Amino acid sequence: MSRPETVTLVEVGPRDGLQNEPHPIPAATKIALVERLADAGLGVVETTSFVSARWVPQMGDATEVLTGIRRRPGVRYPVLTPNLKGLERAIEAGADEVAVFAAASETFSQRNTNASIEESFERFAPLIQRAQEDGVAVRGYVSCALGCPYEGAVPPQRVAEVAERLRRMGCFEISLGDTIGCGTPLEARRMVARVAERVPPEHLALHFHDTRGQALANLFACLDTGVTTIDTAVGGLGGCPYAPGAAGNVATEDVLYMLDGMGIDTGVDRAAVVAAAHWIAGELGQQPRSRVAAAESTCSA
Ligand code: HMG
Ligand code: MG
Repeated sequence: MSRPETVTLVEVGPRDGLQNEPHPIPAATKIALVERLADAGLGVVETTSFVSARWVPQMGDATEVLTGIRRRPGVRYPVLTPNLKGLERAIEAGADEVAVFAAASETFSQRNTNASIEESFERFAPLIQRAQEDGVAVRGYVSCALGCPYEGAVPPQRVAEVAERLRRMGCFEISLGDTIGCGTPLEARRMVARVAERVPPEHLALHFHDTRGQALANLFACLDTGVTTIDTAVGGLGGCPYAPGAAGNVATEDVLYMLDGMGIDTGVDRAAVVAAAHWIAGELGQQPRSRVAAAESTCSA
């Protein structure tokens, strides 16, 4: 299979990127970030997460954020929902696309959602049924697709089984998460190829964290698997509260630099993303973590 001519980026910075930030971030800042990213040309901006605020306090303002954004026509604003309660809150706030998250590791599933893999599917069944009744699209995640912070290696076969089950339940796309950024290129490619035997690659996405600086290499290795959707976070923000040591997602601007250089179209304005990376880093009192943002420093406020 050859490399794609176009790639769809799913910007997860406002959710995956901010969920692990220790200090409270005003809802207005989160809203401004979502709007900047959509204005930069990102067609999908994962906006927030309707999880329990006791588990993830930073996402406690999900309703305020989702109802507060100015929606750009044609842009999708999915939100995370772990259970029926989360879906109901999300629908109430106007969500028309949600994402459920499962794991390929039992221990991570327990730590992240207080449920076994099997129990998490039991939670998803009524959620997906209600979503379908309301015309809400459901995406699925598989965490620990290249390894688990508690169990270590995770067999690609298990990732494929969880992904296939999510697809059969009605998820339109399954995003394969290297939650702790432990994979390397050939492993990543092997895992994706194994999953693609069970779920067609046009229904898969790559969600790689960059903890060990491997994410771009891993994405490059997967570019000829037929998968054309990549999750990224502006400024390389992020981490999962229940994945100790996990760093941010691969930075949107780093992926853009690579894809732009390869002539692969995304429709996204890299300079605008770099500006957003500097702006949000300033709001958080940090420096942008990505190499491209550091190199292409545009200090626009
Ligand atoms: P639980 O404690 O087992 O839930 O948590 P419960 O059903 O027993 O309910 C306990 C309390 O929480 C009740 O309140 C519920 O009403 C409330 P009380 O009666 O005690 O006052 N509750 C809720 N409140 C608001 N929204 C809800 C909700 N559900 C229950 N949706 C639960 C189970 C799943 C809720 C919890 O474990 C949780 O919220 N986990 C989320 C953890 C999380 O957000 N992790 C990060 C996202 S996943 C990720 O980052 C990985 C990803 O990026 C991919 C990758 O990188 O691999 C996606
Ligand atoms: Mg993630």
